[in-house]
This record gives sequence, structure tokens and C-alpha cells, in this order.
Amino acid sequence: MIRTRVIATAASVPEQVITNADLAKIVDTSDEWITQRTGIRERHISAGENTSVLVINVAKQLLERAAVKAEDIDLIIVASVTQDYGTPSLACMIQKEIGAVNAVAFDVVAACSGFMFALSTADKFIKSGAYGNALVIGGETLSKIVDWTDRATCVLFGDGAGGAYVEKSEEAGMEWENIGSAGEKYEILTEGYTNCANAFNDNPASVDPLWYVNMNGREVFKFATKKVTGSLKKLMEEKHLKHEDVKYFIPHQANIRIVEVIAKKLGIPFEKFYMNIDRLGNTSSASIPMALNELNEQGLLERGDKIVLAGFGGGMTWGTMLIVW
Ligand code: UT7
Repeated sequence: MIRTRVIATAASVPEQVITNADLAKIVDTSDEWITQRTGIRERHISAGENTSVLVINVAKQLLERAAVKAEDIDLIIVASVTQDYGTPSLACMIQKEIGAVNAVAFDVVAACSGFMFALSTADKFIKSGAYGNALVIGGETLSKIVDWTDRATCVLFGDGAGGAYVEKSEEAGMEWENIGSAGEKYEILTEGYTNCANAFNDNPASVDPLWYVNMNGREVFKFATKKVTGSLKKLMEEKHLKHEDVKYFIPHQANIRIVEVIAKKLGIPFEKFYMNIDRLGNTSSASIPMALNELNEQGLLERGDKIVLAGFGGGMTWGTMLIVW
């Protein structure tokens, strides 16, 4: 049976770090409010580099770490809601930059669940037998679509990218997944709306206020705690797992309080959830692969460890996956 294994991970962030105190200089907020309500202390914010710079950096590291040649890459899948262009995709920009001439390259949009959707897609291509490997990357420069005068949203997000090189294997790898969408709720979290203005209608061509991240924070909070709890419960039941069997749960890093609620509801010690939101903020599709990479770089993952990834976000969407390292 063909399986998909993670072989290497990598991450990249802009150098510039913005603290809560820095934000308090531009909007009416405080370090105390942001830390207590979200768990975020600082985040990396682009000093001008666009998303392509971050994802290309990740792709180059993945090739080196996995010791594979660019021309041997079969697939490049990038998850992002902050691409440089409408077209080309970020994946095609990576393809050009690294010289992956034989790859099929495309982007997927599933907001903060994006990496889970991209990983799931790579897994299916590989399990079909037609593709042998993939670069799977989540990357964002959310700073370019945040309204920097809106304290309710601008304090939450950060920029960054993370990814994994995966390949076909006969050993255990991606073992179980539950991805889903609830499109009926899409209005509770949106960004990037563009007006349909053209030469034959009267719509104004100006940037619509809905270009910026717009959300009902409380509804997103409710959605996240309900869906992730339900999805993790399904995993634990179907795979007959106890939390003791899982080395780490890696949740999307949107708000430490969301993870505290999920941990409590499931009776899982909070310490089993790997968190880095204090240093990175919410980086949407990049948060899960960046957290996975941190664990990997610190040597905290051993062959055979069971790891659970759990994303949720705009769409609305969610995605949970059990990986055997
Ligand atoms: O990746 C998915 C993306 N989104 C999310 O995950 C968001 C999920 N939701 C959340 O994380 C939380 O709902 C937020 C962190 C966004 C907000 O926390 P909350 O506890 O739901 O606060 P709230 O929106 O109910 O606001 C409470 C108060 C309000 O003031 P009043 O009306 O009580 O006087 C806000 O105006 O806090 C005020 N407030 C702030 N105060 C200082 C909102 N933002 C700020 C701020 N600094 N940055």
C-alpha cells in the first residue's frame, strides 16, 4: 500500500519583529489586552518582502534538507490567501526560482486550514501512484491585507511560511484525516474582496473595505472550538487513541484561549499542544508547518511518534490529520 511520509520540514519569517508595545503606538491597545486575550507577544512583519520570498526560501531549504534535486520534484502545492499575484500561483513562482522543471505546480485556498488541505491533496496525488513526491508549503504576508487602523484585527496576525517535503513510502506516514468545509458560514471571516467594476457597469473601482481581514471574532472562536473538538474526538475514537498515545497535538495558532478550550473539552493536558503563538502571532496557512518545523529542528520528534495536526479557518474550513513520524 502506498503511503505518504514527511521527510523534511522548513520555515522562513521576515526579520522584522513587531511587539505588542510597538502596536500600542499605532492603535488604542495594550500589551496586557493582547497577551491576555490571545497569548500573542510579538510577530514577524514584512519589511517589504512579499509572500513569494518566504515560500521560495522554504522550498530551497526543503530541497537541501531532503537532499533531492529540483528536477526530481513531482508536485509543488502552496496554500496561501496572500499570493503576490492572482496569477501566477506562488507554486509556479517557486517552480521557476528553484528550477523544478518537471513539477506540476498550483496553489490552494483554504485560509488557516490551507496547509492541511494542501497536505491532503499531495497525499491523494501520491497515493494515486502517479506522483512520487511533493513540496507542500503554507505562506502568508497577512500584514498586507490587515487594516492597520483596526485594533480588533491588526494585533492578531503575523507573516511567515513553513512547509514539508513528502514522498511515497511503504512505511507508516499520513494515517488518518478529516477535512471539511462549512461554506454557509463564510461571511464570519473574509478578506481580499474585490468589486466587479468594469467598463460596462457603474461599480466603483476603488478598493472595497472588505479587501481587509474582516471577521466576527466571537463566531470564529465558537466555530474553531466546536469543529476542532469534534474532529479530534472523531480521530481518537476511530483510531482507538488515548491522548497518551499522541506525542504532540499541533493546532493552528489563532488564539491560545481557543486551544485551552479544546484541551479542556477533550480532557487533554494543555502541555501536549505545541504553541508558538507568543512569538509568531496568527500566520494562517503557515502556522502548522512552522510549528511542525520547530519541533523537528529541536529534535523533539522521533521515528514512529504519533503527531496530530489540526487546522481551522476561513471558508469556513477545518482539517485534522494523524501523522506517524
Ligand atoms: O485563524 C482564524 C482567524 N481568527 C480567529 O481565530 C479569531 C478568533 N477569535 C478571537 O480570537 C477573539 O474573538 C478575539 C481575540 C478576536 C477577540 O477577543 P474577545 O475576547 O472575543 O474580545 P471582543 O471582541 O469581545 O472585545 C472585547 C473588548 C471590546 O471592548 P468593549 O466593547 O467590551 O468595550 C473591544 O472593543 O475588547 C476591545 N478590543 C480591544 N481592546 C484593546 C478589541 N480589540 C482590542 C485591542 N486592544 N486590540
